Amino acid sequence: MAKVLTALQPSGVLHLGNYFGAIEPAVTLQAQHDLTMFVVDYHAITVPQKPDELRRNILFATAAYLACGIDPKKTLLFQQSAVPQHAELAWILQCVARMGELERMTQFKDKAGAKAEKVSVGLFTYPVLMAADILLYDTQTVPVGADQKQHVELARDLAIRFNRDYGETFVVPEPSIRAEGARVMGLDDPTKKMSKSAASAKNYISLLDDEGAILKKVKAAVTDSGAAVRAGEGRPAMTNLLTIYSLVTRRSIKEIENDYLGKGYGDFKADLAEVITLWLKPLQAKIETYLEHEEELVKILDAGAQKARERAERRMKAVRERIGVAL
Ligand code: ADP
Ligand code: TRP
Repeated sequence: MAKVLTALQPSGVLHLGNYFGAIEPAVTLQAQHDLTMFVVDYHAITVPQKPDELRRNILFATAAYLACGIDPKKTLLFQQSAVPQHAELAWILQCVARMGELERMTQFKDKAGAKAEKVSVGLFTYPVLMAADILLYDTQTVPVGADQKQHVELARDLAIRFNRDYGETFVVPEPSIRAEGARVMGLDDPTKKMSKSAASAKNYISLLDDEGAILKKVKAAVTDSGAAVRAGEGRPAMTNLLTIYSLVTRRSIKEIENDYLGKGYGDFKADLAEVITLWLKPLQAKIETYLEHEEELVKILDAGAQKARERAERRMKAVRERIGVAL
C-alpha cells in the first residue's frame, strides 16, 4: 500500500476549501492507502496563539477529522507535538536547506508581506518543519491543495540533497494535487483562494456556520457581470459558486447550469445557500458529539502518537547515524 501523508493546522475555523481541498481527499484515500494524518500544532505557533484557544482548536480539528470520516483504525492520526522527532528532524533539515530556497516560498512572502522583519523565524522555516513531517514517515504521496505544492517540492529537494550528501535515507515524496475543487476561491474575491485568514469572514463558509450565516454570506458573494448562471473563462465568481454547488451536491456543473437556464443569480444563490446548509447539518452534529467526549479524543490522539513515535524514531535513528552524531 502506498504511503500517503497529510496534515492540517488546528485552526478554530475549517472552511469549505479545507474540506474539499484537504479533508475529503484524505478520507477517500484512507480506504486504499497507508494514510498518516496529523494536527500540526507546531506549525500553528509560527504565528501568535492563545494557549487555551490552541488547546481547544487541536481538539476541534481532531473532532472535525473524525466527523468527516477519518477512521483511526485505518489511519495513523495524532498530534504533531506529541512526536518530538518532527522538531528534531526539522532542525537537522534546517542545516540542509538554503536561505535562498526558503526566500522563494510564495506563502511566506504572502504571509509576511511588508513586515518580514517582524514575523517569527518559525514562519520563515515553517516549510522545513513540513518537510520533516513528510520525510519521517517514508511518505510517497502528499495530497495537498495547489498552494502547498511548493512546500512539498522543497521536501523533495531536501530529501534528494540529504540522500546525496549522507547516503540513501529518505523516500522522495510526490505532491498530488486534486484537480476539481482543489482550489475553492473566496466568496468576496474569487481571484484569491478561500482562506480563514482573509480580511472578512464573508470570504469563507465555515464548517460550523449556521443557516443564517450561510445565507448571508452566499447572498453577499461577488458575481460576474451579466445575469446567466454559467461557469467558464472570464467568469471567476460564478465558476467558483457553481464549483461549490457541484461539490456539495455531487452533480456536474453542466447539469446545474441547465437547471438555471433562464433563471437569475437570486434564485441560484438562495438554492446554493440551502444545499450547503443541508450538506453541513449532519456533519456539524457529528463534530459536536465528538467534542462532548473530550477524553475519547485525547485517547485516540495518544494511541496514534505512540505508534507514530515508534515509526518516526526508526527513521531518526538512521538520520543520527548518517550525520555522525550517533556514538
Ligand atoms: P487557510 O488558508 O484557510 O489558512 P490552510 O493554509 O490552513 O488554510 O490550509 C489547510 C489545508 O487546506 C491545506 O492542505 C490547503 O491546501 C487546503 N486549502 C486551504 N484553502 C483552500 C482552498 N481555498 N481550496 C482548496 N484547498 C484549500
Ligand atoms: N503546511 C500545511 C498547511 O498549511 C500543513 C502541513 C504541515 C502539511 N505539515 C504537512 C501538509 C505535511 C501536508 C504534509 O496546510
